[in-house]
Amino acid sequence: MSRLTESPAWKLLQDTARSAASLVLKDLFAATPDRAEALTVSAAGLVLDYSKQRVDAVVVERLIALAAQQQLPRWIERMFSGERINASEQRAVLHVALRAPRDTQILVDGNDVMPQVHAVLDRMTAFADAVRSGGWTGETGSRITDIVNIGIGGSDLGPRMVCEALAASHAGPRLHFVANVDAAQISATLRSLKPSSTLFIVASKTFTTQETMANARAARHWLVSHLGEAAVAQHFVAVSTNLAEVRKFGIAAANMFEFWDWVGGRYSLWSAVGLPIMLAYGPATFRELLAGAHAMDQHFRSAPLAQNLPVLMGLLSVWNSNFLGSESQVIAAYAQRLERFVGWVQQLEMESNGKSVDREGLPVDYRTTPAHWGDVGTNAQHAFFQMLHQGSAMHAVDFILPLAAEHDYPEQQRMLIANCLAQSAALMRGKTADEVRTELQAKGFEGEALASAIAPRVFGGNRPSNTILLARLDARHLGALLAAYEHRTFVASVIWNINAFDQWGVELGKQLAQSVLRAIDAREAAGFDGSTRALLARIPH
Ligand code: F6P
Repeated sequence: MSRLTESPAWKLLQDTARSAASLVLKDLFAATPDRAEALTVSAAGLVLDYSKQRVDAVVVERLIALAAQQQLPRWIERMFSGERINASEQRAVLHVALRAPRDTQILVDGNDVMPQVHAVLDRMTAFADAVRSGGWTGETGSRITDIVNIGIGGSDLGPRMVCEALAASHAGPRLHFVANVDAAQISATLRSLKPSSTLFIVASKTFTTQETMANARAARHWLVSHLGEAAVAQHFVAVSTNLAEVRKFGIAAANMFEFWDWVGGRYSLWSAVGLPIMLAYGPATFRELLAGAHAMDQHFRSAPLAQNLPVLMGLLSVWNSNFLGSESQVIAAYAQRLERFVGWVQQLEMESNGKSVDREGLPVDYRTTPAHWGDVGTNAQHAFFQMLHQGSAMHAVDFILPLAAEHDYPEQQRMLIANCLAQSAALMRGKTADEVRTELQAKGFEGEALASAIAPRVFGGNRPSNTILLARLDARHLGALLAAYEHRTFVASVIWNINAFDQWGVELGKQLAQSVLRAIDAREAAGFDGSTRALLARIPH
């Protein structure tokens, strides 16, 4: 038994959850007319309505007590002040520094990181302005019309998601993203491009990631075969922490945009990894994104726990998963442009909190992160919402809804909003057998036909959800939304006493891929397990 599950705050919540049958949302709303107002917080332009969570004042108080017991305020402060809280890699965790204003001071081992953060931002700005204005051209003097970002994981998901999310205001060059080692992607991308007007960004924190380096070599070979070796300088830039490897690849230091080991890959879109965002939308929009995130950072650092939006999101996810038995976390963004948000959240949350030993290296005896999944509304309603409403397990849902639309179809925006609100209401209230019976009787059902028609139409209800409102999906609100989720992940990790900032779980597969590749090349399968040997024997040569 680890200490967390034996702790007073955890045990108290367990007791509370045992009587959670009494937490019936419909009744709670009926008993407390101002419930929605009481259980809504706002920060940095975001509104979180958590009144459809199965909590009351006592539960919230006990969740806050759990946060206090786990020393959440101290951990927040440790992160913001540059302590090496990523213990297994001995690194500070300072994505918050990437969006802090120029005059801030953040020390790591006594050195202020802010001058270098802003020096890189300024270089990115100059470069983006030059590319966008045509001052930076390709080798033959052609204007850059297409940018290909080659990167994977955090070096792909964040910038790609943001670029799609901001699509309404796109004014820069066309963007392409290549991540997969499956060369179907790079070859299809290259086929659509002209070498003379294409710029490649090779984005890799380590600059050793197999997939990224393979795609970067393919792109380099394509460019050189059309324009010659000398063209690499005008057509390739790197985003990395590893200057030596960048140089080895043939990209000069002058064409590298640096970031640092205290930026986790999945927290890196705010760094030079965000260069595609700046190239597409311009430096001012990128700085708006940073400003929105910074506003959320300030709120997270200073607001009392009970009014702290990311803290509440983190605690509610723990409550649902560890105490109420929610099977997974569904993310339903009612915004087509947030189609890639789920992919970004999946890496953020599941690479951060998909752990089973605590900070002391002891196996945990409680669930850490549940699976995060989802899709955009309204599409999701016609795919998996059936299970959310009537399935045998409970799944907590985050509804995300930007209110103002940037298109010419206001009636469809009203439909989108109506659907979002209707889904969370339906999950909460459900539909009783009596309600179904009355409805069916009004339609003329009676006798056996009526009796057998009732059960499939009953909704249990009482299924918890958050609703997160944004005034609109612009850079500032998006920055705040992403920062809120980053901090939510950190909050849950503090409760679970795990390190959210390493990812050793992806290493074994990477190592084995190298040895399987050698086995394929050498046609020698000795040393592998029976299944891998048998599968290798079926690989055509
Ligand atoms: O998937 C593991 C991982 O290390 C992620 O954490 C990271 O975002 C991704 O690979 C890409 O790494 P890099 O930026 O070093 O190429």
